[in-house]
Amino acid sequence: MKSIIAALLASGSLVAADAVQANNSGTFSAKDIDGAAIYKQQCSLCHGEKAEKSPESGVAPLAGRDATVLALTIRAYRDQDKGVGTYTMHKSSEIMKNETVKLSDMQISALAKYISGLK
Ligand code: HEC
Repeated sequence: MKSIIAALLASGSLVAADAVQANNSGTFSAKDIDGAAIYKQQCSLCHGEKAEKSPESGVAPLAGRDATVLALTIRAYRDQDKGVGTYTMHKSSEIMKNETVKLSDMQISALAKYISGLK
């Protein structure tokens, strides 16, 4: 199952689009793909060191969830005010908008992969 997800991510449009963007802008750096570091700095306070916490009632822990769904969810929070019509998922949360608004697509992919690998 893990390898299927990894294959999907590797071949998926999320990662492909990110790679192209990074090459074009020339701003790609190691900190953009360090999901662990980003998670520790920006997410662990509310979601727990190992993504084991529920930040509020009705929100389940994130650890081990499907990486593609995680990435799409994080993007949906980030872009919630943009009215991006192609999204099939809409998220509305002021807290999560503030936490994700500065993340690049590449950082989100790295974060999602890291969180998905936690147990
Ligand atoms: C200040 C606390 C806080 C921080 C920091 C935070 N979150 Fe959240 N997160 C929340 C809350 C509250 C919700 C529920 C929001 C809602 O009602 O949709 C949530 C929801 C989520 C969800 C959806 C969970 C679900 O069951 O649908 C994901 C995925 C998520 N956060 C990822 C992240 C990531 C990745 C980061 C770091 C970039 C992060 N969060 C930082 C509080 C936080």
